[in-house]
Amino acid sequence: MYSLRIGVAGYGYWGSKHVRVLSGLPGVEVTVVDADESRLAEAQRVHGPIVAVSSLDECLDELDGVVVAVPPAAHAPLALAALDAGKGVLVEKPLATTVADAETMVERARARNCCLMVGHTFEYNPAVWKLKEIIDSGELGKILYIDTARLDLGRYQNDCNVIWDLAPHDISIVSYLLDEMPDETSVWARRHIGRRHADVAYLRMTFPRREVSAYVHVSWLDPCKVRRVTVVGERKMAVYNDLSDNERVRVYDIGVDALESDDVHAMPVSYRTGDIVSPYIQHAEPLLVQDTHFVESLTTGRAPATPGERGLEVVRVLASTDEAAAPATAGRFRSLGTAS
Ligand SMILES: NC(=O)c1ccc[n+]([C@@H]2O[C@H](COP(=O)([O-])OP(=O)(O)OC[C@H]3O[C@@H](n4cnc5c(N)ncnc54)[C@H](O)[C@@H]3O)[C@@H](O)[C@H]2O)c1
Repeated sequence: MYSLRIGVAGYGYWGSKHVRVLSGLPGVEVTVVDADESRLAEAQRVHGPIVAVSSLDECLDELDGVVVAVPPAAHAPLALAALDAGKGVLVEKPLATTVADAETMVERARARNCCLMVGHTFEYNPAVWKLKEIIDSGELGKILYIDTARLDLGRYQNDCNVIWDLAPHDISIVSYLLDEMPDETSVWARRHIGRRHADVAYLRMTFPRREVSAYVHVSWLDPCKVRRVTVVGERKMAVYNDLSDNERVRVYDIGVDALESDDVHAMPVSYRTGDIVSPYIQHAEPLLVQDTHFVESLTTGRAPATPGERGLEVVRVLASTDEAAAPATAGRFRSLGTAS
């Protein structure tokens, strides 16, 4: 006997993982929604007699909640249709592709008194929780800067650039770690393949309260898969490597101290080196933790840890990168035209 019926809109790369995870939760019955018949057939091949339909309208009345895992430009219309029908909604990152759409979604959820949650998966990741615990304990000292790299021969998207595709993760991770949103962004972004969207980008965000800068490198065009967050503190440094099997977080007892001296020949800094420690991190699949939390929010009526408002905040940062990436004045100089 099922107590909750959840529709997953989009049975693509990521939606299929939601279907796997939700189908394993007790009391949850999943309906697969995909506009592509071949994806519905694939869902039935993998999951057997699962209900599979080609549009959300066909099944909305029967559902208690909806997971929106279609390409980002289609998030807002599907989520709004679900909210208008009084259903709780989990929307994949980024919440929407414009600030106006994200604001409408948040307002609509409030007006309908429905759960609106954003799928910031890394905020449900035990390694990120551990990193935050280490930062909050003061072990690293004052945070000097954070650097993130999310690189791969990635899945080029049709409806957004690499920043809107990948950087929501980094914006969500860093703002979660620092407990604040950035107030300024600067961006370097460039398209190397095709005619549509930037595929490599560097983003700098400034966090005013902590006086910390975060540098985010995202790429669909890199031979090496990298998923790394480096937190550099005055006392110690920590690295979260999401690709590591058993040492996802390492704390390096190393640092550099400035030496104040009037002697121009003296060393400007001294170095400290010590242990490298990798703390125990419980194993839990972040998507499972996130989707379980969504189900709990639906059944208890309690606000989720990543509500629509949090998704809106991240969309505001993403939108600012569009402005920041507009052609800017570059540093210019006269070159002799030769490197030798
Ligand atoms: N949280 C994460 O770590 C993570 C990882 C990957 C992707 N995502 C997000 O998941 C979403 C989906 O990404 P993907 O890589 O799975 O895309 P995808 O292209 O692999 O799959 C999208 C699916 O949606 C279907 N679809 C499109 N419009 C539809 C509509 N109106 N109604 C029903 N079905 C429709 C398509 O037929 C396709 O099967 C995106 O928002 C992406 O940003 C999140």
